[in-house]
Order: sequence, then C-alpha cells, then structure tokens
Amino acid sequence: MVDWAGVAPSPQSHRFVRIGRSTRDGVHMQKLTASNITDVVLSRFGEAANERFREILTSALRHLHDFVREVRLTPEEWKAGIDFLVAAGHITDDKRNEFILLSDTLGVSALVDLLSHARQPAGATDSSLLGPFYRDGVPEMPNGASIARGTPGETVVVRGLVIGAGGGPVAGAGLDVWQAAPNGLYDLQDESQPDLNMRGKFRTDSSGRFEFRSLKPLSYPVPHDGPAGELLLAQGRHPYRPAHIHFIVTAPGYEALTTALYIAGDPYIDSDAVFGAKDSLTVHYKKSQAGQGDNSRATGEPDFIEFNFNLVPTRRL
Ligand SMILES: [Fe+2]
Repeated sequence: MVDWAGVAPSPQSHRFVRIGRSTRDGVHMQKLTASNITDVVLSRFGEAANERFREILTSALRHLHDFVREVRLTPEEWKAGIDFLVAAGHITDDKRNEFILLSDTLGVSALVDLLSHARQPAGATDSSLLGPFYRDGVPEMPNGASIARGTPGETVVVRGLVIGAGGGPVAGAGLDVWQAAPNGLYDLQDESQPDLNMRGKFRTDSSGRFEFRSLKPLSYPVPHDGPAGELLLAQGRHPYRPAHIHFIVTAPGYEALTTALYIAGDPYIDSDAVFGAKDSLTVHYKKSQAGQGDNSRATGEPDFIEFNFNLVPTRRL
C-alpha cells in the first residue's frame, strides 16, 4: 500500500504554489479552453510533489482529460459517472470492496499483476490474482488433511512439489490454500459454513512435497448485485470465474508466490470475469490407477491434481 500522505505536497505548499503559478503559467481563468486546460491544471502542481507521485498523477490527469475530450462527455454523462462512483462507495464496507471488484472486472488488477511479474525467470510459476477472500492466520494442518470441514462434495487430492533455485525441492515451504465451497461461496460470504471452511495451511516435507484433500471447486459469480455488476451487464458480460483453488507459497530466500490453479474444461476458463485464469495454471483431474497400461483399473480413490510450484529466489539489492 502506497502512503500518499508521505509523498503528496502539504496543504501549505499547495496554497503557496497556486498563488505563485497563477501568473507564471500566463493563462488567466477567462482564457481557459478545452485544449489548454490540461496544461493549466498540471502547471498548478507544487514543487514539493514527490517525483513518482507527480509522474502518476500527471499521466492520470492527461489520460482523464483526453478521454473527456475524445468522447465529448456531456454534463449528464459526467453526472452519471459521478453517481456510479458514489454508489460504489456506498456499497463498500469492511467485507466488500466495490472498487477492487471494479479494478478486477475491468482488467486493471490483472494488468498490474502482469507488469509486476514481467521479468520473471523462465520456468517460474505464474502469479494470479489474490482476490478479496484471503484470510491471514489460518492454522497449519498436517500433509494429507482435508480443508473441507464437514461440507459435502466430490473429494479431490491436490499434491505436488515446491521447487527452488537449481530445480531442487524446497523443504518447509508454506502453502496457504483457500477456495469456494461447492455452493460457490467462501466462508466469509456464507454464515452457514463453519469458520475457516475450505482453507488450510500446509508445509512441504523434507522432499519438498505437499498434499491435501479438498472438494472439486466449481465456477462461481463475483458479487454482481451492485454497480460493478451493472457495468458487467451493460458490457454484455457474465460475472463468472472459472473453478479454481487459491495458493500463496512462501519459503525463506524466495519471493512469495500468490497464484491459483484453474480447472481445465470449466465453461468459463476462457472468459474469466476478472482475467485471472492462465494456460500455465490450468490443471486436469487425474484418476488414480492400479497397474500399468491395458491392465490399469480405477482404484476407487478420489481424482487428484498434481502441480509443482517453481519459486523465484529473492532478489539481492
Ligand atoms: Fe476465488
């Protein structure tokens, strides 16, 4: 989280510069035009503005003004936009953040994530969106345990390796795991579920292996009963995310990996409402087989998913 309070100019510096610049920029209020107003607004920036803050806000303002000019925004349309943001604010509380939902459904969250991982080494596991349902402090469970706390559904075993520098296994890596229950809801959204349902924390063994049991996840809609949902509908889009399981993989000396595994064949795999699904993170259910080749037969064991997470060593400065 960026603390803009520390980088934005103080109210005093703003006041000082506004007076000082009004004559220096050479444009008086009555001479403002649709063409010159952007430069006039930018010329009011205080000298004390932090460089990065200045870069971001300058670009944001230029794009915003260009957008208004390009579509020739009418006063009624401008008011509709303001009303939309007000409605997004009103529906936001400590359990629901409509602005994150908007960022997700408009692809901004995915873009920020893609940019921040653009220079990953080859072979590193791709990241995916954290989403709004992560909970910190979930107690550790032994390998092999189930994260379904009494919820019925079709069992799936999830197992694999955590791999580090040089392709070696990482022992003692932590895996935070969470997913929606088969009714499409996370425990945070559904009072009928036991606390911490469909969540667990696991640790790789001395060979870098992890294993846990879960229920086959299903696709679910993001909250779409508010302004973000209206916007999706207006675009002719559905609100569904393909079935997935979230992970945060951590180990000393490695970058934390926030990612998710997506289930192949899901009807929404190519149209994820929040643009999080990736080919490299798509997994198939496999059947446990006894025997080899033509002699193999189903064992009655649950289907399993096998996936290895490849971590990136922490960059040394
Ligand atoms: Fe999710």
